[in-house]
Amino acid sequence: KPAYKGYFGRIGGIPLYKKFIKYWHKVEKFEARPDDIVIVTYPKSGTTWVSEIICMICTNGDVEKCKQEVIFNRVPYLECSTDHSMDGVKQLKEIASPRIVKTHLPAELLPVSFWEKNCKIIYLSRNAKDLVVSYYFFFLMVTANPDPGSFQDFVEKFMNGEVPYGSWYDHTKSWWEKRKNPQVLFLFYEDMKENIRKEVMKLLEFLGREASDELVDKIIKHTSFEEMKNNPSTNYTTLPDKIMNQKVSPFMRKGIVGDWKNYFTVALNEKFDKHYEEQMKGSTLKFRTEI
Ligand code: PPS
Repeated sequence: KPAYKGYFGRIGGIPLYKKFIKYWHKVEKFEARPDDIVIVTYPKSGTTWVSEIICMICTNGDVEKCKQEVIFNRVPYLECSTDHSMDGVKQLKEIASPRIVKTHLPAELLPVSFWEKNCKIIYLSRNAKDLVVSYYFFFLMVTANPDPGSFQDFVEKFMNGEVPYGSWYDHTKSWWEKRKNPQVLFLFYEDMKENIRKEVMKLLEFLGREASDELVDKIIKHTSFEEMKNNPSTNYTTLPDKIMNQKVSPFMRKGIVGDWKNYFTVALNEKFDKHYEEQMKGSTLKFRTEI
């Protein structure tokens, strides 16, 4: 694995993969379409889950249609560009409307066109403790990611914002501020785990779709953790081991709230809580770390 130091560059002060930065000019001037649906998350917040739910909504519950193509082609990752096959902007230019766009950008870096065209934007957030566990395992399994060190080392990098997409605290707060904009729907992973029906209904209403019991049932069944873990179009197993080594850790790892308790020591937890309080001081944003 490559060394951590010097691996990431910065855009607007935010650490990002250097290969993404190389093509940033294309992202910045991205042209939105008014019916684009934008899914925004800090990495490992449940992006794939909400993406599959939205695909189900847009196809009116057509499971077969959703299974025809892998999630990263149905919902292109906007700022993801590499020198070879991956190019989020190119993919998006080529797909039919309504497009579903995935991005991990903080509010201030979202291409302005999405605001100007009044696109619907869904922000999904997840508590920082479970997220950092998920992010750590993601670092271990994605071959191109640098060595994260020990879990404790990685948590410290996370606390300092020295991970791709920078400070989780700033990212989450930046989008929390946008929630009053009618273009934005702000959701929590923990709420989805607690009552998926309620959150699916919120999404349907936000997207102006009718919510029949039959459709909602179908969405819930098809997007459960177990279904998505066994579905090659959502579990990333179509990618070769040399990109994502799922023998190290599966992409669909556990999908639960509270797994952090298995990884944080008492001392690390205390340090994290203290820092968390300082970072989130004055914010009305509250997360649950267990349900
Ligand atoms: S990425 O790489 O940023 O797009 O990853 P992302 O999809 O945001 O996050 C992956 C985590 O989401 C969990 N996941 C789910 N949880 C519950 N239900 C469903 N259906 C579901 N699908 C994905 C996935 O397991 C990762 O969390 P962890 O905690 O690592 O299991």
